[in-house]
Amino acid sequence: METHNEFNVESLPQKKWWDQRYVCEMNGFWTLPEFVPYTVRVLNEFKPLPSDVILASFPKTGTTWLKSLLPSIIWRSSKESSSLVNHHPHDLVRYLEFPGSPPWLSSSSPNGELISSSSSSGGNHHHDEEITDPTRRRIFATHLPYQHLENKLDANKPCRVVYITRNPKDTLVSMWHFVNKTKGPEEHDWQLEDAQNTFCSGIFPFGPYYDHVMGFKKASLEKPHNIFFITYEELMTDPIVHVKRLAEFLGCPFADDQEESVLEVEKIVKSCSFESMTSQEVNKSEDFTSWTPVAYNAFFRKGGIGDHKNYLDANTIKRIDALTREKFHAAGFMYGI
Ligand code: A3P
Repeated sequence: METHNEFNVESLPQKKWWDQRYVCEMNGFWTLPEFVPYTVRVLNEFKPLPSDVILASFPKTGTTWLKSLLPSIIWRSSKESSSLVNHHPHDLVRYLEFPGSPPWLSSSSPNGELISSSSSSGGNHHHDEEITDPTRRRIFATHLPYQHLENKLDANKPCRVVYITRNPKDTLVSMWHFVNKTKGPEEHDWQLEDAQNTFCSGIFPFGPYYDHVMGFKKASLEKPHNIFFITYEELMTDPIVHVKRLAEFLGCPFADDQEESVLEVEKIVKSCSFESMTSQEVNKSEDFTSWTPVAYNAFFRKGGIGDHKNYLDANTIKRIDALTREKFHAAGFMYGI
């Protein structure tokens, strides 16, 4: 049953996150004060359709990558892949809870002219009866934790969720770079030591990281037909295999072993690769996204596995690994070290 959520920024616990920036706590997770009304709007008003796809992630874990892969897999067609040339992935797939007009109320289609004429069909889940026209399927993104969305995702005929996560140490280093790249000129640098403490305390936007990941991990084990859980490292190591698995899960599989579909998968993997994406003018641009004042190019930095080794000292690695053992390994999720 739907519950009505009332949150008032002033009444929520607030803590300083860094410099003059604050986060406030909503049911065990931290968020930016300006996001509170939009989060409440999602919780009270968003009604996912069974054919919807929601990309969920903690920040800096591979969201941008999947914002290019999911439209390419779901909509396919040459028109769609060419859209990656002209459109930043964050403009292809909008966040549910970010400031601005609700993405689920867009007039024509949530993704405007980018809806393509895919011919995909298939899959054998109960969702499929709802997908009358795959080209009209809506794709949204969210950084909200599963614990906030649980009621929405537990519907009778639930939508599909794809959750990506990433090694905590690489996530931290990516986050630290991102904040320093996107901060205002008047703001102090976010020192790496502060970033480490913040990561471990969990008090920054959408944190704690560990609770965020475990919420979706557990849900994916309980509902594997509805929640697809993947790591950045898996996707990086074997993108062809995982793009095919994603397509199966999404109900639009590639035809088995047909040369044409093998080429199609390879083309999607290549066009969404870090190398290809960073060669597009739109992704090199200092222009701002339509939904927040962050330069398009800030979402691409190095794009690899293990960069934390270049930044974190042995003590910090030890500290984060201990936390990872406590939060992930003790719960049976042997990941992140
Ligand atoms: P690094 O800072 O380690 O380079 P998010 O999209 O969730 O904000 O995550 C950003 C991270 O994903 C950054 O990591 C960014 O470089 C990387 N990234 C962006 N696009 C990518 C792609 N197509 N392939 C692999 N990594 C990508």
